[in-house]
Amino acid sequence: MQTVLAEKQSIQSSITAENYAFLQRYIYQESGIVIDAGKNYLLESRLLPIVKQENLSTLNDLCNLLRATAPLPLKSKVVESMTTNETLFFRDIALFDGFQKNVLPELINARRDTKKISIWSAAASSGQEAYSIAMILKDMGLEGWRIQILGTDLNQQILDRAAAGRYLQIEVNRGLPAKYLVKHFTRVGLDWQINDSLRSMVSFQKFDLRSSMRSLGPFDIVFCRNVLIYFDVETKKKILSEIQKTMNSRGLLALGAAETTINLSTTYSRVAYGPATFYQVP
Ligand SMILES: C[S@@+](CC[C@H](N)C(=O)[O-])C[C@H]1O[C@@H](n2cnc3c(N)ncnc32)[C@H](O)[C@@H]1O
Repeated sequence: MQTVLAEKQSIQSSITAENYAFLQRYIYQESGIVIDAGKNYLLESRLLPIVKQENLSTLNDLCNLLRATAPLPLKSKVVESMTTNETLFFRDIALFDGFQKNVLPELINARRDTKKISIWSAAASSGQEAYSIAMILKDMGLEGWRIQILGTDLNQQILDRAAAGRYLQIEVNRGLPAKYLVKHFTRVGLDWQINDSLRSMVSFQKFDLRSSMRSLGPFDIVFCRNVLIYFDVETKKKILSEIQKTMNSRGLLALGAAETTINLSTTYSRVAYGPATFYQVP
């Protein structure tokens, strides 16, 4: 009890206005993520564990270290801890239904000569989105086709998890149909490991969405879901414009349920398959 109290007293959560503004600028500069005013609880919950690990006393100490000679791993740790990695298998099932029943049959027909399909999961987090796409494609029985699924994210730690393809029971309980669990996963201790045949369809690499995308693609479909919400309007516009350059003609973009291209880009036209909305390039 005394130790807990002492620990609480030694790690002070209060942060000066100057340091709050410094962290806002620092996180924006390193990731594009906008931290609004009054989000002290967010900074505290994400950064106080780092304060403790680094044997510092306060968030102000952490700011001083970041301003001075903070080693690269610490800088990455701070930025990675500010990313929100919430995800699940088949997130937004209506979108995946449209993808399976409408988008893929049309794409397979259009690519019947080249037999090549390329898909990008552009804010892949721990990989559930990329593997959900892979499971659907596997079901289509495309023998002899070259299927490439690329998952990228800014956060290297979360990408390492994605590449490992190992999930907790609670994670497979969220959104993964039982038939896919049986077909594509093996129990390892308390966890579930994605089988190699599925894992080999997906590759992961670190990529900051604010970078030039010239080296990526061309993709038939881009999933860029639940990440634009963290950016300001200028960053969203730039990302949508860059994504378009990575896409094959008539390629489709999938966004999160709370995201849209409206007022951000005039390039994309909305294509709806029932409740599933995609955005198409010319
Ligand atoms: C909420 S998750 C979305 C995961 C998945 N797309 C989904 O919809 O379930 C957002 C992801 O965006 C990543 N992210 C944040 N800023 C980024 C940036 N500048 N470049 C690339 N990825 C970024 C985060 O690391 C996080 O894993």
